Amino acid sequence: MNHQRSQTAKHIAKFIQINHAGELGALNIYRGQLFVAKFFYPNAVASLKKIANQEQNHYQIFGLWLQQHTIRHCDGIFIWAWGGFLLGVITALFGQKAMWTSTNAIESTVLNHFEQQLNYLQQHDTATFKMVQRIKDDEQQHQQCGAIHGSDSMRYIPLSNLAKGATKFAIWLSIKLAH
Ligand SMILES: [Fe+2]
Ligand SMILES: [Fe+2]
Repeated sequence: MNHQRSQTAKHIAKFIQINHAGELGALNIYRGQLFVAKFFYPNAVASLKKIANQEQNHYQIFGLWLQQHTIRHCDGIFIWAWGGFLLGVITALFGQKAMWTSTNAIESTVLNHFEQQLNYLQQHDTATFKMVQRIKDDEQQHQQCGAIHGSDSMRYIPLSNLAKGATKFAIWLSIKLAH
């Protein structure tokens, strides 16, 4: 029984390590997009700032959880930070529509990831479940913002796939690096 409990705790700790790194990645994606938007799409700056602030808040919430459970951050965290910024800049340079289409793709991938975790957390840890659920609600808003301002035109499919692929790869890498 104790063994099972410690396995569950390890599992959940790994989830939060991955989410913590991912939120830093997300924060940096929006920082990268903001960097470009300040020059080319000033009308998008307010929305991007609002989203970036929420990502920062998510990053802090998961960071606090790790601190309280005396668990160190994921080893891959700096890859996420730089990779996120780069992905943000690249997607924004393709144009404003492309940028928001990428937001839709990235946040959809994040939502899938959270949903899988929530299924597990619901059965094993109510407090952590609620924490992730609240954050997931924000991600849903980000995804919707991307869907509203983006486009489902065929021409954005390659970029959308690139954004999705990069996000999936980052999640996969974090799972490997979390311990
Ligand atoms: Fe987030
Ligand atoms: Fe988000």
